[in-house]
Amino acid sequence: MPTVLLLGATSDISVAIAKEFGAHGYALQLAARNTEHLSPIQSDLKIRYNVDCTVHAFDALNYDSHQSFFDSLPVKPDVTICVFGVMYEEEDAWNDWKLTHRMIDTNYTGAVSILNIAAKYYSAQKKGTIVGISSVAGERGRQSKLIYGSAKAAFSAYLAGLRNKLFKDNVHVVSVKPGFVYTKMTEELPLPKPLTAQPEEVAKAVFNAVEKKKNTIYTKWMWKYIMLIIKNVPEPMFKKMNI
Ligand SMILES: NC(=O)c1ccc[n+]([C@@H]2O[C@H](COP(=O)([O-])OP(=O)(O)OC[C@H]3O[C@@H](n4cnc5c(N)ncnc54)[C@H](OP(=O)(O)O)[C@@H]3O)[C@@H](O)[C@H]2O)c1
Repeated sequence: MPTVLLLGATSDISVAIAKEFGAHGYALQLAARNTEHLSPIQSDLKIRYNVDCTVHAFDALNYDSHQSFFDSLPVKPDVTICVFGVMYEEEDAWNDWKLTHRMIDTNYTGAVSILNIAAKYYSAQKKGTIVGISSVAGERGRQSKLIYGSAKAAFSAYLAGLRNKLFKDNVHVVSVKPGFVYTKMTEELPLPKPLTAQPEEVAKAVFNAVEKKKNTIYTKWMWKYIMLIIKNVPEPMFKKMNI
C-alpha cells in the first residue's frame, strides 16, 4: 500500500487531497501544527476509506524540528505533498513586518526546509514524488499580491529547480498552481464562480498529476491561459494597472 504525507493537513485543499488518495487505497499521514484539529479528519478518513491514517505534529516555521519530524515517521511516504500556506491582507502586511516575514517564511522558507529533507531521502532511494501547492499569484509580481505572490514565485522557482535536480535520481516533482479555490483562506473574498475551483477539483488534478507524472498543473485549467496573457502584458502598461 503506497503512503502519502500531507503537510498542512487541516487545510481544506489538503482534506480533499487526503480523500482522493484515500479513495485510491493510499495510507495517509496527516501532519499539522494543531494535531487536535486533525482528530475528526483522521476518524472520518479511516471510516470512509478503511486505510491506515496517522497524525503527526508539524510546524512549518519550526525549521529545527523538520529533520526529526521526517525521521520519526514510522513509514516513509511514497508521495510528500506540501499544502500549508498563509495569505494575509497585503495592506496589513505592508504595515507590519511580522506579517510580511511570516508570509515569506511559511510559504517559502518553511516549504524549502521540509522539502529539502524529503528530497534528500528520495534522492538516496532513487524514487519518490514531491508535490508543492504554489499559486498563480507567483506568476507575475503585482500590487494586490505583493508579498504572498513573491513568496509563491520563489516557491514555484524552487519546485522547478528541484524537479530538474532530482530527475536523474528518478524523483518526480509536481508544481500545482491553483487560481481561486473556495477554502477558509478565501472565504472573505468575492470570488468569480467560473474561475473558482472546489478543493475536490484540485485534489483530483493533483492525484492525476502524480499518477501521470505531470510537471506543472493549473487548476482550473483556464488559469494557464489567463496567466499567459497576464505574463505577456508589456511592463510599461502593466505597471500602470491596478491589479
Ligand atoms: N484558496 C485559494 O484560492 C488558493 C489559491 C492558490 C493557492 N492556494 C494555496 O493552497 C494551499 C492550501 O490553502 P487552502 O486554500 O486550503 O487554505 P487553508 O484551508 O487556510 O489552509 C492553510 C493551511 O496552512 C496551514 N498552516 C499555516 N501555517 C502553518 C505552519 N506554520 N505550519 C503548518 N501548517 C501551517 C494551516 O494550518 P492551521 O489549521 O494550523 O492554521 C492550514 O491548514 C496554500 O499553500 C495556499 O497558498 C490556495
